[in-house]
Amino acid sequence: MLVNLRDIIQDAYKNKYALGSFNGYNFETFKGTVDAGVEKNVPVIVAFGAKYLTNMSLKTAHAMVQSIAEEVNIPVCLHLDHCSDMDIIFEAIDIGFGSVMYDGSMLPFEENLANTKKVCEKAHAKGVSVEAELGSLAAGAESHEGSADDKEVYTDPDKAKEFVEETKVDCLAVSIGTVHGLYKGTPEIRIDILKEINEKCQIPLVLHGGSGTPEDVLKASIENGIAKINVNTEISKQVVEDTLKSLSEKTVHYSVLSLEQRDSVKKVVEKYIDIYKN
Ligand code: 13P
Repeated sequence: MLVNLRDIIQDAYKNKYALGSFNGYNFETFKGTVDAGVEKNVPVIVAFGAKYLTNMSLKTAHAMVQSIAEEVNIPVCLHLDHCSDMDIIFEAIDIGFGSVMYDGSMLPFEENLANTKKVCEKAHAKGVSVEAELGSLAAGAESHEGSADDKEVYTDPDKAKEFVEETKVDCLAVSIGTVHGLYKGTPEIRIDILKEINEKCQIPLVLHGGSGTPEDVLKASIENGIAKINVNTEISKQVVEDTLKSLSEKTVHYSVLSLEQRDSVKKVVEKYIDIYKN
């Protein structure tokens, strides 16, 4: 069944586990993610980034995920990932997404706050949850999100407190050293900053840039308030690598390749679900 993020994220935050948010852009990624949730019997978040509107419309993404979710007995949340266009966000709310991310992290603090507040008012009136972002992630290797010039700006805990209180946002994406894409060197993750943000904000926090982040770092993050962790690059990488291997070994019908790709997605999602457990 389809649920709103608020229905599932509070429990994760309280009981110190994280929900997996897995980026999808086609049937194989949507279905592979939900299949993994069913296998492990946990709620999953299917994240459709505004970036992938060239792959399909919001309406199509919603129809597909709703249909997949109706066939299973786990909670599935359809989330609009990284969107700075408020018209697209309002459309997603009207269509039935259970969560939206307004990304104003590149804007001056006051502007990000004012826009996020506007999104929260509209979304909350319809029971839809809102994620916002403060601070900024650097670009790693093979990232498909943000831009190559993105620089690390750590989230300021005092600003985060002010932002959360003013906007009434449901969860906040923080920047503590993870990158979008794969790490170019050894990750330097600031759990001390995360701890301070969590103490000051007391709401579920979100970690972007899950791909390649060491397991002990993910676990320490969950211990300190992270209740949702996003993964994109590693899913895509696994599917592409497995597809190349398959094609080099045999001639394959596309319908069979599609099933193999679903399994590749499922494999990565299950790996992360196991790490996110308490
Ligand atoms: P990765 O591509 O590094 O896994 O990051 C995904 C993400 O943060 C989606 O918003």
